[in-house]
Amino acid sequence: VQLQPYNTLGLMAVAEYFYALTNADDLPGLLAMAKTQGWPVQLLGGGSNIVFAGDVPGLTIQMNLRGIRECSADYAGDTVIIEAAAGEPWHAFTQTALANGWCGLENLSLIPGSVGAAPVQNIGAYGVEIADVMHSLRAYDREQGVFVELAASDCGFAYRDSLFKSAQPGRYVIVAVRFALSATRPLVLGYGDIASALSAAGVSSPTAHDVARAVIAIRQSKLPDPALLGNAGSFFKNPLLPAAQVAALQSDFPGLVAYAAQPQAPGLQKVAAGWLIEQAGWKGYRRGAVAVHERQALVLVHHGGGHGAELLALADDIVASVKARYGVQLEQEPVLMGQA
Ligand code: EPU
Repeated sequence: VQLQPYNTLGLMAVAEYFYALTNADDLPGLLAMAKTQGWPVQLLGGGSNIVFAGDVPGLTIQMNLRGIRECSADYAGDTVIIEAAAGEPWHAFTQTALANGWCGLENLSLIPGSVGAAPVQNIGAYGVEIADVMHSLRAYDREQGVFVELAASDCGFAYRDSLFKSAQPGRYVIVAVRFALSATRPLVLGYGDIASALSAAGVSSPTAHDVARAVIAIRQSKLPDPALLGNAGSFFKNPLLPAAQVAALQSDFPGLVAYAAQPQAPGLQKVAAGWLIEQAGWKGYRRGAVAVHERQALVLVHHGGGHGAELLALADDIVASVKARYGVQLEQEPVLMGQA
């Protein structure tokens, strides 16, 4: 099966075997069969955070489980627990939640991908991470051969990272995610762009709907729509550096953008990798089918007809150039799949 339609970068790659999963109960049997056959198993959600380094041997399971339901019967106060199946498209889910008055996901509007993939990289934008709003999830534990419930605190969440991405990759197959949402949840407006977008729109006491509208407008203004131009969002993480190193860099590069340390990482500051890459001269640079986006240097784009190898070669050159100029090591954000 050609995987080009199943990754938002639109890279060409072939899956040896492919199965679109619509019923979680089929999972144990499917995994047992793969084991008997000796097929490696790869899981695919919305394909928005992966780079195909080459063709994918073994069985690729595309998570197509659907359904959204409220399951907060015994929950106190005005908090509701909303469960969405892994295959629900993320953005549509956030807007469904909002339309029902379930607030908390508005800052995460317009992020590509699926609900089941969202915890894997702890998606985050405009001051909110999924770790902040997730209640628990249901997953199939391939090690124990049983379905398990994991609380948000069990998921090893960190900046763009989780148990599912780093500590135990491949162990859990996420089938549904539950969120704790509420009509009275305080809005998160601290992220610079949001406040200015709201005041530009003349909104003085914003609602969750206003925040979602602002986020959507900001994202549309600088991030390419994967339906029109292949991309996987940010291609690199924003590096977390010791405050002293950031201060030294800022004296050499006065415009350097850095954010205050986050609670998870005291003493560290998050440096805007997009700024480093832009200032190193890469913004808008194109090489064959691949390029650095012209409005957000953290995003690599694919114009079509290319393979992962070209994109990864460009990424390597950017990493080397940033290292040489600033002494900062960039780390790739999307997950690699397939064999080069
Ligand atoms: N900047 C530049 N040049 C660029 C890009 C950015 O100078 O080409 C500067 C901006 O001017 C700004 C700062 O860098 O001062 C931050 O830029 P932006 O607000 O666009 O956010 P980011 O740090 O580049 C992160 C996330 C995004 C998320 C935004 C908003 C990571 C790896 N990326 O990007 O997430 O939408 O913040 O919260 O943390 C994604 O993961 O796919 C993604 C798009």
